[in-house]
Amino acid sequence: MHQVSVSLAGTILATVALTGLTAAPALASTHGARGAGDRYFPLQGNGGYDVKHYDLRLRYDPASRHLRARTIIRATAKKRLTSFDLDFRRNLRISTVTVNGVGAVFHQPAALKQELVVRPFRAVAKDKTFTVVVRYAGTPAAITDPDGSVEGWVPTKDGAFVVGEPQGAPSWFPCNDTPRDKATYDFRVTVPRGVTAIANGDLTGQTRKGRWTTFRWHNREPMSTYLVTVTTGRFDVRTGTTPGGVPYYIASDPKLTAKSSAVLAKLPAVTDYLAELYGPYPFSSTGAIVDDASKVGYALETQTKPVYDRPPDELTLAHEAAHMYFGDSVTFKRWRDIWIAEGFAEFSSWMWSEHTGGKTAQGFFDTYYKKKATSSVWKPPPGNPGSAANLFSASVYLRGAMTLQALRVKLGDATFFDVLRSWHQTHRGRNVTVGQFRAFAEQRSGQDLSRFFDVWLVRKAKPTSW
Ligand code: TRP
Ligand code: ZN
Repeated sequence: MHQVSVSLAGTILATVALTGLTAAPALASTHGARGAGDRYFPLQGNGGYDVKHYDLRLRYDPASRHLRARTIIRATAKKRLTSFDLDFRRNLRISTVTVNGVGAVFHQPAALKQELVVRPFRAVAKDKTFTVVVRYAGTPAAITDPDGSVEGWVPTKDGAFVVGEPQGAPSWFPCNDTPRDKATYDFRVTVPRGVTAIANGDLTGQTRKGRWTTFRWHNREPMSTYLVTVTTGRFDVRTGTTPGGVPYYIASDPKLTAKSSAVLAKLPAVTDYLAELYGPYPFSSTGAIVDDASKVGYALETQTKPVYDRPPDELTLAHEAAHMYFGDSVTFKRWRDIWIAEGFAEFSSWMWSEHTGGKTAQGFFDTYYKKKATSSVWKPPPGNPGSAANLFSASVYLRGAMTLQALRVKLGDATFFDVLRSWHQTHRGRNVTVGQFRAFAEQRSGQDLSRFFDVWLVRKAKPTSW
């Protein structure tokens, strides 16, 4: 009751006082920055603090599409904060926000579509850990991206398909939505009996109460917000451990189990093969979620458990599995560096094909290299997609993977795979740039690769000599 009244007062204060604050430069020194500095998504992420842990409690009813939730954020202040922003869309209604247990003033400026401005009752001192609790409810709305694709909380017939790349997370939980602020997660998701709730990491409990079932998941290794999922629906579930010792959790929509089981059965072998190629698997478990959500049009490498909008083919399964190393464990610092994820995942799917006696990686290279200089295979260059609308263009994937195959030929298998293995080992759990990979490959191989990388990653034209 106490919290409610403080927060109500907060809401009123927010409209009078905080609208002013938004524009007041005098207060900027103790306000966490509005965005994390990404040129493709200027409002994404925030400054002034680092999130360590998210504790998400959600109740979702697929029939009414109603979500009720409470998010706890544990963060460390990087400077004194009299106020700070979270990323959160305005379609869900917030009832209360507290900071360190005390009701806080909060405001969602209409002009800033994903900013939730929080002003704690007492300022947070530099280097202090603080806790934010946000309670909210409503109907989450999916988000349309600059390239026209949908993401966020996407309702299905029996639940929701939840994906966050590049900006879907704030459609359903308040967060610091930058790939650079990785955190651990606990999930407690309540759904109607018969529905399964699947999140990242490991299942730690499942309890039934009346009409409802609560699933608890714990994600141990730090994760970027765009890789979070809480996908719900009716699912057939298989669990086990790969021969190499990685636990897996594989779920498929019952309507799609027959169509997907042959490919999903390869996941243990794919996982162990990638560990041979790139070193120990970086997370506590692996898996897959195959849902009936084909209007989404893509799969996503949600950490530990990629989600598929339809039964995947084997190349797609291997692509998403490889993202666990490149994308999820080693993550780009900014969206422009997406090649660090997509080029490597696509190349790895070619390696899986080669390993299993199918088309070789060089075979894939040759097929695409035949494409005319005007083909979309070449444009934009993968090291500089140019804008948010081009993040997932074919060239980022295909020319991006060809770059690695060309590097493999140039360095030889022993040196090339040593570079990839040590690259993952060195940067595991962290964020990187394309520039860092270029420098790393040069240093590790002892070769001058500056022209090679310019030709393949930066220059606009189809590479002809390198
Ligand atoms: N990163 C995903 C993959 O390659 C694809 C993806 C995520 C995507 N969001 C997208 C593709 C939006 C097109 C549009 O596995
Ligand atoms: Zn990918």
